[in-house]
Amino acid sequence: MLARSLVRATKVASPAQIARASMPKVARATFTATTQRRTPPEIIAEKEVPQSSYSGGEVQRSTLIVGEENVASEKVSPLTQSVYNNMPKTMQSLSLMGKTVIVTGGARGLGNSIAKACIEAGARNVVLFDANQELGDISAAELHEQTGNTIPIDFFKVDVRDAGAVESGMKAVLEKYGAPDVLINSAGIADSNIPAETYDLEMWRRLIDINLTGSFMMSQAVGRAAIAAGKPCSIILVASMSGSIVNYPQEQSCYNASKAGVIQLGKSLAAEWAKFDIRVNCISPGYMDTALNNVPALDAQKKIWKSLTPQKRLGAVNDLNGLAILLASDASAFMTGSNVIIDGGYTLY
Ligand SMILES: NC(=O)c1ccc[n+]([C@@H]2O[C@H](COP(=O)([O-])OP(=O)(O)OC[C@H]3O[C@@H](n4cnc5c(N)ncnc54)[C@H](O)[C@@H]3O)[C@@H](O)[C@H]2O)c1
Repeated sequence: MLARSLVRATKVASPAQIARASMPKVARATFTATTQRRTPPEIIAEKEVPQSSYSGGEVQRSTLIVGEENVASEKVSPLTQSVYNNMPKTMQSLSLMGKTVIVTGGARGLGNSIAKACIEAGARNVVLFDANQELGDISAAELHEQTGNTIPIDFFKVDVRDAGAVESGMKAVLEKYGAPDVLINSAGIADSNIPAETYDLEMWRRLIDINLTGSFMMSQAVGRAAIAAGKPCSIILVASMSGSIVNYPQEQSCYNASKAGVIQLGKSLAAEWAKFDIRVNCISPGYMDTALNNVPALDAQKKIWKSLTPQKRLGAVNDLNGLAILLASDASAFMTGSNVIIDGGYTLY
């Protein structure tokens, strides 16, 4: 029934209307939840995302080119119990067998790719928290479809700046799955090419709120749940090499400061929560080939970034997956408070 109405809708409706039509009716609250146990909606695959930024009485327009990573395609093969049972001990410890994973910023980019990897590594279920309702709903449906409809996938429209939404989302996860075993905090934004002397304060506060305060609020919510349940937990904060170095040539003091804050937050939480068996580690990527960087204005700078990277390329969207799984799994049981830079060698020079 749903599928038929969608087919009809494609003839007359805009992509946004189709995405909305595909969403289940849920009560309006501080967040909305979608559990994918149904026919996935038709996938919308925009090639370009126009963007307008209003600040200080001026408007800046640009167009994001949707990266390859957003194209729905590949199959995601969940690790099955029988395959797991036949794996050597070392490989078992590297798995996420039976674990519940929350991924913020999981609707696209690095978070989305890590969410897929978690399923392939044996996660029992994956919960996406993302501020983008359309993308989140479509990504969850896509993930459910790519896994052959075998793994429960939930999407919660949660803006990590919104304490009420974070709390409500966590409460729903707790009721459904119990305390999560893993948090991957990938939600984040970037502003670049803004000289410090002209940086708009509202923009500054917004970025710090999302990248730093959001990382704290999510960690706090998951940490509290794990402490209350007396359960071990692995929290992984996606920081950036920009938290340790100053990028060149673009000026982006706020982003760099936010990520330095995330790294220090990770170390502080790791020290505080070791007694609860909660591990906290950071992944600090170098330049990655995601939509975040697919802005025409950055094309010239990308050439410089590549030339300064020993491997002479940007990271692929799935280049963090192996590290994320290691940190999420029991194989890294003695690892906490680490900040692992994964940058094709950029920070060597
Ligand atoms: N792409 C890179 O080169 C790069 C390098 C270093 C670090 N990082 C970091 O990696 C993380 C992911 O980056 P990406 O390249 O995948 O970006 P992306 O823009 O492709 O994905 C980010 C996701 O976060 C979501 N999001 C944004 N603000 C949110 C909010 N307030 N609440 C909830 N969700 C929100 C977006 O909707 C999106 O789905 C970010 O923290 C980023 O700073 C990226």
